[in-house]
Amino acid sequence: MIQTSPAAASQAPRSTREPESRAPIIQVHGLEKTYTTARGALTLFHGLDLEVYPGEFVAIVGQSGAGKSTLLHILGALDTPTAGTVHCASTNVAGLTQREAAAFRNSKIGYVWQFHYLLPEFTALENVAMPLLARGDAKRQALATAANWLREVDLEDRGDHRPGELSGGEQQRVALARALVGNPRLLLADEPTGDLDETTAGRVFDLLERLHASHGLTSIVVTHNLDLAARCTRTLRLESGRLGALETTLQTGLHTGKG
Ligand SMILES: Nc1ncnc2c1ncn2[C@@H]1O[C@H](COP(=O)(O)OP(=O)(O)OP(=O)(O)O)[C@@H](O)[C@H]1O
Ligand SMILES: [Mg+2]
Repeated sequence: MIQTSPAAASQAPRSTREPESRAPIIQVHGLEKTYTTARGALTLFHGLDLEVYPGEFVAIVGQSGAGKSTLLHILGALDTPTAGTVHCASTNVAGLTQREAAAFRNSKIGYVWQFHYLLPEFTALENVAMPLLARGDAKRQALATAANWLREVDLEDRGDHRPGELSGGEQQRVALARALVGNPRLLLADEPTGDLDETTAGRVFDLLERLHASHGLTSIVVTHNLDLAARCTRTLRLESGRLGALETTLQTGLHTGKG
């Protein structure tokens, strides 16, 4: 079992906050995922275990194809495990119907991807409001809440811009506001800075850290960038279907770069 106690988390000097409670917000045990492909079965995880405590800011690194995105998808109820248990934000994620999974994602999870996936025909403000409108909030209230979130990501003066009229960093900040507009407890970010230059990536990560702390989030960030990973409270490496501590990563020389 991976060492994931609050004590382990507190080893990192740049922790944005200490874990608030001893009860994990994410508890994965014996996870397996097998895809059936034309060339046979592809098994990604081999009894993977993970515990994450409230307030932790966890980085996950690993080679391309290791299964990092798949793991986030399973945590966020976008994909289902083949075996094992997955409890996330007081929810048995593996047992959800499609409808329950959609409600779970909308209320409990903020998701940020490498590419922003903003809707091109809508303004930044409307994009941020989208999750609230999807769950049936009144439009006026949804737009007011979205405007507050645009202020949180320092983009209050870009609300009427469409995604094509924003810089890459701005697009990702809008995506971050959209991820958090519904007040989720958990933020799952899959290479959120992977498509940005180094300076912009650093700024987006600064913002991520700030929002993580100010909104009491628990965050998991997949990244290929070890400098950014080092800013998290804990870094895990996904390798050979399991999660291990970062030391393994350094010994085997994972490449640094974007992510
Ligand atoms: N729906 C699917 N069906 C079959 N194989 C899949 C499916 N989704 C992912 N895979 C395979 O599972 C493996 C893990 O994919 P995943 O996207 O999780 O990797 P990753 O660690 O996020 O990689 P990267 O760093 O390149 O983003 C890959 O080899 C991929 O080809
Ligand atoms: Mg990936």
